[in-house]
Amino acid sequence: MISLLLLKIPNIYEIVQNNLNMLDTLIPKKPKTLAQIQSKSQEIGFTMPSDELTGALLRTLVASKLNANILELGTGVGLSLSWIVDGLGQHSKVTSIDNDPSLVTLVQDFFKEDARVKIICDDGGQWIRNYSGTKFDLIFADAWPGKYSELEEILDLIVPGGFYLIDDMVRQPNWPDGHDKIANQLISKLETRDDFLMTKMNWSTGIIMMTKKVDP
Ligand SMILES: C[S@@+](CC[C@H](N)C(=O)[O-])C[C@H]1O[C@@H](n2cnc3c(N)ncnc32)[C@H](O)[C@@H]1O
Repeated sequence: MISLLLLKIPNIYEIVQNNLNMLDTLIPKKPKTLAQIQSKSQEIGFTMPSDELTGALLRTLVASKLNANILELGTGVGLSLSWIVDGLGQHSKVTSIDNDPSLVTLVQDFFKEDARVKIICDDGGQWIRNYSGTKFDLIFADAWPGKYSELEEILDLIVPGGFYLIDDMVRQPNWPDGHDKIANQLISKLETRDDFLMTKMNWSTGIIMMTKKVDP
């Protein structure tokens, strides 16, 4: 039965037969904090955790920047944040925003020893509109603001050469009716940006990764 299924998906068949090391779910050196955060996430019944593959990609991108300034919108239980922190250099920093005070308190506790991590309880939209500080090398927008609202504002906060990353762009089981249309509208809007280059990945939960051109 399993081999029949695998035969229908040639890529997976190839990988399993010939190159097990290429399985994308085999991720080496996961963040030290991850297991603890995952178990807390299960304990509190958090329903929106970020995917490990997304986390691994974030960590890889974050590690490319010297003295990086990273922004995450939607701290949640801190799963994606644990990957971001794992990729952070010594002199880099990350700011993460969530409007749920109980989640913010919980995640602040996980990262309290790390001065590079700042977790803020605020409405993401309000925070974006009020922000006038240094621009960011990478923004992971994992909440409504900075993705489905305040889009122009958030893209303006990225430095040339910086990344904008969003996940959950392929239909998810928790999507309400009509969300497909909203997601497609967002993709169309992003595609009109001449100052960014985009890669759509039908991988993980559906990733869109954009780089702001250094020479637009
Ligand atoms: C998809 S979850 C984020 C998951 C998180 N990245 C993780 O790995 O655990 C979205 C988060 O956005 C937060 N959120 C929803 N609306 C928000 C808003 N207007 N401003 C800030 N955060 C918001 C929710 O509380 C939730 O924790």
